[in-house]
Amino acid sequence: MVILKTINLVKRFGGLAAVNGVDLDINENEILGIIGPNGAGKTTLVNLISGLIYPTQGEIVFDGINIESKPAYIRTKLGIARTFQLVRPIQGFTAFENIVVGALFGAKENLKQARDSASEICDILELKRRDFPIDKLTVLDLKKVEIGRALASKPKILFLDEVMAGLNSDETWQMIHLVKSLKKRGLTIVVIEHVMGVIKELTDRVIVLESGKIISQGLYENVCKDPKVISAYLGEED
Ligand SMILES: Nc1ncnc2c1ncn2[C@@H]1O[C@H](COP(=O)(O)OP(=O)(O)OP(=O)(O)O)[C@@H](O)[C@H]1O
Ligand SMILES: [Mg+2]
Repeated sequence: MVILKTINLVKRFGGLAAVNGVDLDINENEILGIIGPNGAGKTTLVNLISGLIYPTQGEIVFDGINIESKPAYIRTKLGIARTFQLVRPIQGFTAFENIVVGALFGAKENLKQARDSASEICDILELKRRDFPIDKLTVLDLKKVEIGRALASKPKILFLDEVMAGLNSDETWQMIHLVKSLKKRGLTIVVIEHVMGVIKELTDRVIVLESGKIISQGLYENVCKDPKVISAYLGEED
């Protein structure tokens, strides 16, 4: 079943069409990978879906509801959450407190409920240094806090914008394991990622963006053999 759909989605910044007619279907409880070269429009697409910016044209349908003109907080309430490519935790707060803030504002819980939710999320994330201040955390733990803040709004769909960036290979494996465990809990997950090994390991399906358009989609095994993808993206990496 399709949980989120975009129809002819367009975002122009002046003369540049960063997202240029994207028709995207995201299935319930899949892990969808979005890949593409720098500047392909991946983050812009997530910004459009999460409501940080509004489309120039086109529709976004979530759970059967048109949301393209709804403000971000309504989309959060409906069940859409995302992480940011540049993590931005609240400095001076602990890991746990950052997630509590996510629950207070994202899920509009009272303090007691928010603390209970944050505690549960720290367990799910296996966040051991939850009482450490943000500036004492490892990159992996910072990424977990970012995911924890998103989970605190109790989403149905979670967009992860390059959460693996900056992780070493051991941490990357831990993160892959974590994302798979979130899928088992019923979440639909969209992973934006540059590292092909991660996409191969993690995703059920992949779409490839180039210059704001979907140029290929399907199973990783097929997509990575697509000549259009090789010339647009994989070739560039080599
Ligand atoms: N607010 C903005 N104003 C003007 N141009 C923008 C804005 N946001 C993005 N762009 C442009 O839109 C294009 C797509 O950018 P976007 O950040 O979506 O790419 P991306 O696929 O996420 O790239 P990366 O892999 O580097 O994160 C780029 O050319 C970028 O410079
Ligand atoms: Mg990006």
